[in-house]
Amino acid sequence: MNGRSKIRYGMVGGGEGAFIGAVHRMAAALDSEYELVCGAFSADAARNRRSAEALGLDPGRGYATFDALLAAEAALPAGERMEALAIVTPNHLHAPMAITALDAGFHVLSEKPMALNLAEAQAIAAAVARSGKLYGLTFTYSGYPLIEEARVRVARGDFGKIRLVQAEYSQGWLSRPIDADGNKQAEWRTDPARAGLGGCLGDIGTHAFQLAEHVSGLAVESLSAELTTHVAGRRLDDDVAALLRFEGGARGVLKASQVAAGDENGLRLRIHGEEGGLEWSQMEPNSLTLRWLDRPAEVIRAGGPGLDPSAMARLRTPAGHPEGYIEAFANLYRSFGRALRAGDATPPPRGAAGWFPGIADGLRTMAFVEAVVANASGDAKWTALAD
Ligand SMILES: NC(=O)c1ccc[n+]([C@@H]2O[C@H](COP(=O)([O-])OP(=O)(O)OC[C@H]3O[C@@H](n4cnc5c(N)ncnc54)[C@H](O)[C@@H]3O)[C@@H](O)[C@H]2O)c1
Repeated sequence: MNGRSKIRYGMVGGGEGAFIGAVHRMAAALDSEYELVCGAFSADAARNRRSAEALGLDPGRGYATFDALLAAEAALPAGERMEALAIVTPNHLHAPMAITALDAGFHVLSEKPMALNLAEAQAIAAAVARSGKLYGLTFTYSGYPLIEEARVRVARGDFGKIRLVQAEYSQGWLSRPIDADGNKQAEWRTDPARAGLGGCLGDIGTHAFQLAEHVSGLAVESLSAELTTHVAGRRLDDDVAALLRFEGGARGVLKASQVAAGDENGLRLRIHGEEGGLEWSQMEPNSLTLRWLDRPAEVIRAGGPGLDPSAMARLRTPAGHPEGYIEAFANLYRSFGRALRAGDATPPPRGAAGWFPGIADGLRTMAFVEAVVANASGDAKWTALAD
């Protein structure tokens, strides 16, 4: 940070019993470049006060509501007020909160999915353009060192022209109707008003899609998809399958499920070109497997030889120590913070040092969600096999 003070950030959501807010706080703390100064951690004033106290904040900065937070922080002297806001609420609040915060002059680092739908995402993009503030989206998996290695190797043509992109995100935690039984995380994720157009689609299908486009460097041009709800009474999909057609002729498959009973966090990406291909799995994040037509397979290891400098820059420990979820998240926080401190109005483009996901990836993923929903509710997609 060149001797400069820490970035003062606030948080909306992430209170008692919440999941991802605590991960953000760990990620922000990892490089000692951020300080949490305020929050509106839930919709309940008393809980917010307790959360602020538990986090060691000035009690006056554990605000009762998001609106109170913005008003009070905007009124503080420039050297004290929050500079950036982390949005870690359910999805329906992402767009209204991001737009209000940007217009009030704060940088925003938001959870995915970007918004409930593409129109909301476009409204956020417009707010970023008029405010000149930074906007980042925590598509966590693009922060892993070996995802950067994979992206670099595809981009420099190691595998030849890309033909196949296969992304799979397989979870089992919604196999039973825990959303109807009061599970906090499941309950809003299966409510269209708070989750958006997609269930599993918006929650983890967007992660798989962002990773597929990010690593392949190719944009999806069209798709054919099916959305299924396996658990009776659930109001949104819990299973997604899509065939993808990429620019340049590559073909892909995206499979995401939250009813793959027993599966944990099975995010896997495979990409093949004319000469060979790669495979990366989130549950084994330190290994990137390369396979070739005319030579033996290789396993590239985090911290091992052969890594591109941009992947090495995302490593935090010597070889053999898992470079995991928190560290990947922290890589996004670090890049966002450096752009903020550099005063960049425009974040670095994909492939440049210090890149982090933001508006561009957000708009693409919301366009994906809309295309899947439109296609899956249309007809004439499937041909029955003859008996
Ligand atoms: N990047 C990732 O890997 C990842 C992982 C999990 C969740 N997420 C995303 O993070 C977001 C939160 O997910 P979660 O699992 O932590 O949910 P959660 O239900 O555990 O937490 C949501 C929090 O928002 C708070 N909240 C709700 N309404 C509020 C309001 N009006 N004002 C202030 N706070 C309010 C809740 O009280 C709770 O503290 C979602 O958008 C989800 O898609 C991302």
